[in-house]
Amino acid sequence: MKEIVSSYRYWELAEDDFDESVRKLVDAAKEASCRAYAPYSKFQVGAAVLLANGEIVTGNNQENGAYPSGLCAERTALFAAGANYPDIAVAAIAIAAQTEGEFLKKPITPCGACRQVMQESEARAGSEMQIILYGTDKTLKISGVRTLLPFSFELT
Ligand code: THU
Repeated sequence: MKEIVSSYRYWELAEDDFDESVRKLVDAAKEASCRAYAPYSKFQVGAAVLLANGEIVTGNNQENGAYPSGLCAERTALFAAGANYPDIAVAAIAIAAQTEGEFLKKPITPCGACRQVMQESEARAGSEMQIILYGTDKTLKISGVRTLLPFSFELT
């Protein structure tokens, strides 16, 4: 039996650390969260996907009275990107969440189902995406979905 230890790294950013492209993508995610349909949870999430051609595609959580029919912001944005730009790689995604009119201090991280969809976006693109998880106290930057979802399922 062989023990294998793996490690991961990510960056913690203050708002002063944002470069122009991070600022633009985070702003797009924050704006998208304002258009979320979240009457049940009152937890509004926005996601902004930056494509390799420079386009930004946004999405937000879309809830439904039949609860499991709703969809998270990340998948709404990624599926919209896939539907409209099927051949363009996803370069980055930013995620921002607010409740009761305040953006969260601590960033949220995507649910397992969204991580799986993010993983397949990377596989389609053949390149890693940058993941920017916005919080008012700190923002996390992660390079590649592998950090969020090791041992992801892949059809071989
Ligand atoms: N939600 C997202 O949109 N993204 C996440 O990363 C976590 C959760 C949504 C689902 C539901 O509409 C609400 O937030 C509360 O869970």
